[in-house]
Amino acid sequence: MQKQSIEKLQKNLLLWYEEKGRKDLPWRNLQGENCDERLKHISRPYGVYISEIMLQQTQVKSVLERFYFPFLEKFPNLKALAYANEEELLKAWQGLGYYTRARNLKKAALECIEQFEGKLPKDLKSLRKLSGIGAYTAGAIACFGYDEKVSFVDANIRRVLSRLFALENPSMQELEHNAKELLNLNYAFDHNQALLDMGALVCVSKNPKCGICPLYDFCQGKFNPELYPRAKKILYQNMNFNLFLFEFEKQFAIQKSYDKLYKGMYNFPYFKEDECKLSQNMHFLGEFKHAYTKYKLKIKVYHQILKEKNENYEFKSLKQLQNTALSVLSLKALDLMKF
Ligand code: ADE
Repeated sequence: MQKQSIEKLQKNLLLWYEEKGRKDLPWRNLQGENCDERLKHISRPYGVYISEIMLQQTQVKSVLERFYFPFLEKFPNLKALAYANEEELLKAWQGLGYYTRARNLKKAALECIEQFEGKLPKDLKSLRKLSGIGAYTAGAIACFGYDEKVSFVDANIRRVLSRLFALENPSMQELEHNAKELLNLNYAFDHNQALLDMGALVCVSKNPKCGICPLYDFCQGKFNPELYPRAKKILYQNMNFNLFLFEFEKQFAIQKSYDKLYKGMYNFPYFKEDECKLSQNMHFLGEFKHAYTKYKLKIKVYHQILKEKNENYEFKSLKQLQNTALSVLSLKALDLMKF
C-alpha cells in the first residue's frame, strides 16, 4: 500500500476508535485518571499480561464480568503468582478453561523472578522466552504494557488484514508483515487496540458490517468478505462419558486429572461410556452436553452411595468442594443432585 493511503487508513482507524472503540476496558486504563479504583496498585504490564492471557480463549464480556477483577485481587503481582498454591490458582481460573494457561502464568512469573529481576521484560525476544507467551502476547504486552511501537496479529487482526488485503490463506509471516506496514508509529497503543476492536465489532466473521467500516475505501475483500480468510475446519471429537457421584458419609469422590483433558483440575470420576459397567445401586441422575476445547462431550451422571471409601479417590464434603478447583464439567454434574 502507498504511504499516503496508509496514513489515511491510520487516520480513519483512529477516528473510528475515538468514537466507537472500547476505550474504557479496564486493561486499557491501567494508568491515568480512568483507571478503575480496584486496579490502582496493579502494574500496567502485569495487568495487561493477565488480560491478554484471559482473552486468548474467553470472551471480553465474561473476562470483564467474572474473572479479571477477582483474579487480580488474589494475585496482584508477579510475586503472588509465582508463589501461588497451584490449587488456589486453578480455583481462580475455574470456568476460564484451558487450564494450561493458568499453570503457565505461574511458570512465567517464576521465570521473571529468576531471569528478569521480578519484572515482565519489555523486549519481544525476552517476552517470547516466557512460558505460555507467543508472538501475539509478547507484542501485546510490549505495546499495551510498555508503549513499545510493535505490531502483532491475533485471530481478530488476522481476519481484518486478510480481508483488507484479500488473502485467502495467508501465512503468519505475511500477516505480520502487513501489520507492521500499517502500524501507526505515533499512536501504536490506540492503533493496535483499534484493530482488535475492528475485528470484534465490525469485521466480524459472519455478516461483517462493511457499510460502517472505517477501512472500507482501502479494503480489497469488501465485496466477498466471507472468502477471506478461508474458514478452517475444526475437527471436533465426540466422546461419551459416564460420570459418578460416589458418596460416602456425605463426602464425594474426586480425582485430580493428570491427562491432557483438565490437567491439574479436579473432577468426579468419569469413564468412557463403552468401557464402563453399571450396577444396580447406581442411580441415573440425568445427562448433559458439554463442549470443552476440541471435545464435544455427552455426559451421563450416576449417583451411588458407597459402603466404604475407595482409596483411589479423595473424598470431600460439599463445603470443601466449594474451595476445590473442580472443572465446570463436574460442577454441571453436581447441579443434577438435588440436595
Ligand atoms: N482481545 C485480546 N486482546 C484484547 C484487548 N486488549 N482488548 C480487547 N479484546 C482483546
